[in-house]
Amino acid sequence: MTMRAPLNPFLLTGYHSPAYFCDREQEFAWLQEQFANERNVMIYSWRRTGKTALIRHFYYHMELRKQADCLFVDLLGTDSLAEANRRVAAAVVQRFGEWKKGIMPSFLGLLGKIGASIGLDPMSGAPQLTFSLVPGQAVADSLDALGEFLASRKKPVVICLDEFQQVTEYEDGSAEATFRTWMQNYPMVRFIFSGSHRHLMTAMFSDQDRPFYRSTQLLSLEPIEAEAYTRFITAHFKKGGFVISGEQISRIFDWTRKQTYYVQLVCNQLYGKQAEVEDNMLEEVFDSIIQQQIPTFSTYQTLLTSYQWKLLMAVAKAEQVESPMAKEFLAQYNLGAASSVGTALQMLVRKELIIQHEGHYTLHDTLLMRWLQLM
Ligand SMILES: Nc1ncnc2c1ncn2[C@@H]1O[C@H](COP(=O)(O)OP(=O)(O)OP(=O)(O)O)[C@@H](O)[C@H]1O
Ligand SMILES: [Mg+2]
Repeated sequence: MTMRAPLNPFLLTGYHSPAYFCDREQEFAWLQEQFANERNVMIYSWRRTGKTALIRHFYYHMELRKQADCLFVDLLGTDSLAEANRRVAAAVVQRFGEWKKGIMPSFLGLLGKIGASIGLDPMSGAPQLTFSLVPGQAVADSLDALGEFLASRKKPVVICLDEFQQVTEYEDGSAEATFRTWMQNYPMVRFIFSGSHRHLMTAMFSDQDRPFYRSTQLLSLEPIEAEAYTRFITAHFKKGGFVISGEQISRIFDWTRKQTYYVQLVCNQLYGKQAEVEDNMLEEVFDSIIQQQIPTFSTYQTLLTSYQWKLLMAVAKAEQVESPMAKEFLAQYNLGAASSVGTALQMLVRKELIIQHEGHYTLHDTLLMRWLQLM
């Protein structure tokens, strides 16, 4: 399917095509190498760095070159293994169900094994999948049937389980082991695990006592390299007939700390002005982006104690803190005892509002930090 070109080249959701995707050449080559050698991978990063887009970009090329059939399963919002199984099944059915040519008997067999049936949507007439409730053991059987189906395809299959940290929230607690077994049982299926909760993901894949320990190749996705991103931004503005200076771009990088989504957001808004970029337009855009997020950020305050909020604000203002329990920091922000900071900090780190990065504490969300800095 060919898609129309986007009206604004700075996309805020999803993936379009290589022209609107910046760089990531090393990561792309790395993914290709893993695939060529039948290795499974796990991709982690701080939020909104571009994990999902990278996987989409990889898929785009694999499909284009007919090297693999690629499946994408988003586990966001799932709360049980049964639900996860349904998402996997839906992805398989969507990718391989050849409705137009009539359903193959082998496919009907698969549907039976996973407790799914096909009906027609009464409104649109399109085929629709319904699942009957799948109890515990049946989930494992269903995953087996799906795995067998995928492994028996002639062309290699790559399956991505995105937001995989979600499985740690499932009630019965066996999801990790179930997926690990699934992966092991089908060595001819390639798996990509990815997740936006960096601590949960790294713990899952590098703790000795956890099922996924040393089972995959790990990729820590860093921000896009400044030089390549500058070239990308300059070129798209130029193509639209506008000028943006290197200095302005570097101000955007500073303000967003190169958090990919926010860089895209700023550039999208600047581009939307359909004019040469003036310095004061940067301030305007920064400000309007913050204004839009205030309702969201304000709800954070209700979720925290007043002390936790105060500490969050202090870290935001300092931008980076090496020792939040040091006397100077406590005094400067009026935080009282070091032990209070310790407890509150622990909670903020667990929620990933504050992260520990390269030896210092800082806010995870750059925009939240910019907003708090205004107070
Ligand atoms: N290399 C890139 N070039 C251009 N835009 C990109 C690139 N990588 C990501 N983006 C854009 O940045 C935004 C965030 O990317 P994405 O959703 O892939 O991040 P993520 O790491 O999966 O985030 P989350 O942690 O929320 O799952 C999206 O709007 C995406 O289109
Ligand atoms: Mg993502």
